[in-house]
Amino acid sequence: MGLIFRVLLVFLVVLAALATISNAHGDGTLTLRCHPDEAASLLQLKKSFSFFRYPSGLESWQDGTDCCLWEGVGCSNSFGHVTALELGGCGLYSQGLDPAIFKLTSLQLLDLSMNNFGMHILPASGFERLSLLTHLNLSNSRFQGKIPIGISKLVNLISLDLSVSYYDTTEDSLSDYDSSIAIISYVFWLPNFQNLVANLKNLRELYLDGVDMSSSGDWCHALAESLPDLRVLSLSSCFLGGPICWSLSRLHSLTAINLEDNFDILATFPEFFMDFSNLSVLQLARTNLQGWFPRRAFESKTLRVLDLSGNQDLLGHVPNFSNASSLETMMLDGTNLSFAKPGSFSNFKSLKRLSFDVIFFSVDPPSSLDILGSLRQLQVSQVDSAVDVGAIFSWMSDLQNLQSLKLSWCNFSQTSFSSVAKLKSLRSLTISDCSLTRPVLSTLGYLVDLRSLEIFNCIFSGSIPSAVGNLTNLRVLKINGCDFSGPIPSSIGNLMNLRSLEINGAYGSFDSHAGSSVAIPSSVGNLSNLVSLEIWYCFFSGQIPDAVGLLKKLAVLRLGQCGFSGRIPNSIVNLTQLIDLDLSSNVLNGKIV
Ligand SMILES: *[C@@H]1O[C@H](CO)[C@@H](O)[C@H](O)[C@H]1NC(C)=O
Ligand SMILES: *[C@@H]1O[C@H](CO)[C@@H](O)[C@H](O)[C@H]1NC(C)=O
Ligand SMILES: *[C@@H]1O[C@H](CO)[C@@H](O)[C@H](O)[C@H]1NC(C)=O
Ligand SMILES: *[C@@H]1O[C@H](CO)[C@@H](O)[C@H](O)[C@H]1NC(C)=O
Ligand SMILES: *[C@@H]1O[C@H](CO)[C@@H](O)[C@H](O)[C@H]1NC(C)=O
Ligand SMILES: *[C@@H]1O[C@H](CO)[C@@H](O)[C@H](O)[C@H]1NC(C)=O
Ligand SMILES: *[C@@H]1O[C@H](CO)[C@@H](O)[C@H](O)[C@H]1NC(C)=O
Ligand SMILES: *[C@@H]1O[C@H](CO)[C@@H](O)[C@H](O)[C@H]1NC(C)=O
Ligand SMILES: *[C@@H]1O[C@H](CO)[C@@H](O)[C@H](O)[C@H]1NC(C)=O
Repeated sequence: MGLIFRVLLVFLVVLAALATISNAHGDGTLTLRCHPDEAASLLQLKKSFSFFRYPSGLESWQDGTDCCLWEGVGCSNSFGHVTALELGGCGLYSQGLDPAIFKLTSLQLLDLSMNNFGMHILPASGFERLSLLTHLNLSNSRFQGKIPIGISKLVNLISLDLSVSYYDTTEDSLSDYDSSIAIISYVFWLPNFQNLVANLKNLRELYLDGVDMSSSGDWCHALAESLPDLRVLSLSSCFLGGPICWSLSRLHSLTAINLEDNFDILATFPEFFMDFSNLSVLQLARTNLQGWFPRRAFESKTLRVLDLSGNQDLLGHVPNFSNASSLETMMLDGTNLSFAKPGSFSNFKSLKRLSFDVIFFSVDPPSSLDILGSLRQLQVSQVDSAVDVGAIFSWMSDLQNLQSLKLSWCNFSQTSFSSVAKLKSLRSLTISDCSLTRPVLSTLGYLVDLRSLEIFNCIFSGSIPSAVGNLTNLRVLKINGCDFSGPIPSSIGNLMNLRSLEINGAYGSFDSHAGSSVAIPSSVGNLSNLVSLEIWYCFFSGQIPDAVGLLKKLAVLRLGQCGFSGRIPNSIVNLTQLIDLDLSSNVLNGKIV
């Protein structure tokens, strides 16, 4: 989603740029502003690209036409030099960056993000010639190797983005669908951070997420000394070591700090961050923060995102916020922070997204949890706590806007779960590593607005309760890695809106269930919107029902390792949309004609 959105955004920006340029020429003058040598460089660059995706092709890039009107190209009004090349997300593929680009020495803005440069290394020299550059964006464009030293000579740079992002950090990533995590198999390497930034005094935004900085020296002092005007610092997953130096407190204009996923930082929480009055985003998840969290309030009224999750040695209490706080996201799961006093929730009126472990509430229940009325997304982990997770939901009686809930490591009793079942606005529920009983699961039948239900690695005795058939708005139903026995209730045929049905047993637990004879009910034929049906590692010994052939929209049908027997239903020939069929490791016969 995020990716498509960004591509679209870049495309629109390009369109907008083109529109302005064409308007500038609406007076009917036919003079070519474009300089021939620059047009030639652009055409040489075009030759190095192949195009694999809409909207590109760079068809407007034609010899003999005004290059200032070409897609993604911007010129200065007065001299007609090419000052901007915005080709982000244009679906370009190239075996590396053609050095012709370095002849465009008037460039101020260069954006090649989200294209595919074939894992090639950037030219070792050339960037230093683009001395007027103010914005350089090469993020997610599949370059790798050493960052060329020429970039450190671009003294006019305001914004530098060489990041590779592998988490989708958009607001919605917690909700309906799992955030997409791509494995980084290519990476920039920065041999010396101080050399890179020493002359970039004008830099306001620095994104180097995913760049290997493990051998690039004392990043912290280099930042503090060289980049006094920095507003955005984003160095997640850079293999940074600690400490976070005191001199970083000079960068008090910072509005966003992201140091996530640098496991070796191993520092105490830098208290001076709490004094940065314009700070809006502070992401320090999984940085191995140690010791006590400062016992004081955040000064910033602008703080929207605070993510300290996954720092298990961080002790103490959740910070105070001013009553004018605009905090929207607070992630504290995997820490040892808890609430100091009842009532501390009172300054979280704008909180939309919250995660914590139940240990959080090891004190008395806060008196005013109702203040969480604007909460949209909640993630709760029980982890070793005596406090019943159900009790927490009974305190939070007023979660009338909660849409997304993730629960993990919980042990529910029916009474405790019934408070979850009262969360009427819930659209998305994920339960993982919990212990559930059949009566507990039956309670789910009250959550009639659910769009997505996912249950992972849970223990539940017995079969899937028929109450699941009550959830007629479900689009996605996934039950994976759980230890259960059949049958799939025939009420599943009521889930007429289902797009994806996935039931995967716990791998390896076959034998313990030998003998339970379970089949897919023929009511699945009712699920006419189903696009994907996957049932793996289950203990089904019946036939695959003919009704499967009624699922006309099916693109994926995977029924493997389930002990199905009998004939492969002929009706499968009617599945004209199918692109993935896997019936392996069953005892089937017959042929598909
Ligand atoms: C660089 O481009 C990517 C993708 O087009 C975009 O998301 C990102 O915000 C850009 N970086 C900067 C600093 O503008
Ligand atoms: C915070 O932002 C305001 C408004 O943009 C600006 O005037 C002020 O100087 C900033 N403060 C710091 C410490 O940078
Ligand atoms: C929050 O503020 C209250 C009262 O102002 C104070 O008693 C408490 O210790 C503070 N908690 C933290 C964690 O700073
Ligand atoms: C916030 O707190 C201040 C004093 O601490 C008080 O004067 C003000 O009325 C409070 N504002 C709100 C909206 O509660
Ligand atoms: C959390 O911190 C307390 C000290 O405040 C300590 O006694 C306890 O063992 C810690 N718990 C975990 C899970 O680290
Ligand atoms: C779950 O809770 C029940 C009592 O409510 C208890 O008997 C059982 O041992 C607990 N199971 C786990 C895995 O903690
Ligand atoms: C199914 O939902 C209805 C409300 O639409 C509710 O009255 C009924 O009790 C639910 N049944 C089960 C088994 O949860
Ligand atoms: C199948 O769908 C029909 C409506 O088309 C509904 O009446 C029936 O109850 C469903 N059957 C099952 C088994 O869900
Ligand atoms: C395929 O569908 C048609 C009509 O939808 C039906 O008449 C035919 O029997 C089906 N074929 C099989 C093999 O089920």
